Amino acid sequence: MKLFSLDERLLNCASLVRNGARLVDVGSDHALLPVWLLKSGKISFAIASDIGEKPLLSGRENARKYKVEGIEFRLGDGLSTIKPEDKITDIVIAGMGGEVIAKILGESELVKDKSLRLILQPMSRSEDLIGFLYENGFEITEQKALTSKGKSYTVIAAAYSGRKLAVSSVFKLTGKLNLEDGESVKFIKKEIRNLENKSRGDRSVEALLDELRLMINEKN
Ligand SMILES: C[S@@+](CC[C@H](N)C(=O)[O-])C[C@H]1O[C@@H](n2cnc3c(N)ncnc32)[C@H](O)[C@@H]1O
Repeated sequence: MKLFSLDERLLNCASLVRNGARLVDVGSDHALLPVWLLKSGKISFAIASDIGEKPLLSGRENARKYKVEGIEFRLGDGLSTIKPEDKITDIVIAGMGGEVIAKILGESELVKDKSLRLILQPMSRSEDLIGFLYENGFEITEQKALTSKGKSYTVIAAAYSGRKLAVSSVFKLTGKLNLEDGESVKFIKKEIRNLENKSRGDRSVEALLDELRLMINEKN
């Protein structure tokens, strides 16, 4: 059977998973990401973990449909389903709000392992996630922006460093995006529009907006 295509959002997550990784996909739902990674041969072991029974059922169906072995399905909240014996190397948490991803990371001790790669794809409030990462001893190792189904998103690779840092409001919004890149500029423009809708004359937000517009050379 021909390998199906992942959408741009999940494809960008997949691109940040390391070759040969032992993966957990938290909030896996349909399990398309681990199925695709196993089918493509990039990895040989994955855990699809979800808080809901129904998503796990649809994940199991996809594994059967695409004749994929090597996925374990686990039911539970966040990373509570993972044990040190699983020897996980890469963790994907995609398709949730930035604040939910931050909560999942904050509730796990396991993530404080410097060799782990975290691949995080917030659907909204990426600034909450980036603030959480730095304030809790993580750092971004790579960050990209992309358009999927007409919407602009960011995907972040991060690791635990143990150094807790306070980061600026601008950094929370731009992170390590390369602002020479068109997709990154598009993502920042989306964030500017969101802030404009919320600002209602708030001076601190106006100052933040000015700084962001300057960074991407956008006229007010
Ligand atoms: C919108 S789907 C995202 C599916 C897939 N990761 C993607 O990006 O396309 C979100 C999934 O996360 C699951 N979820 C939400 N909160 C969770 C939590 N605290 N722990 C584990 N799974 C969670 C939901 O049940 C749902 O299946």
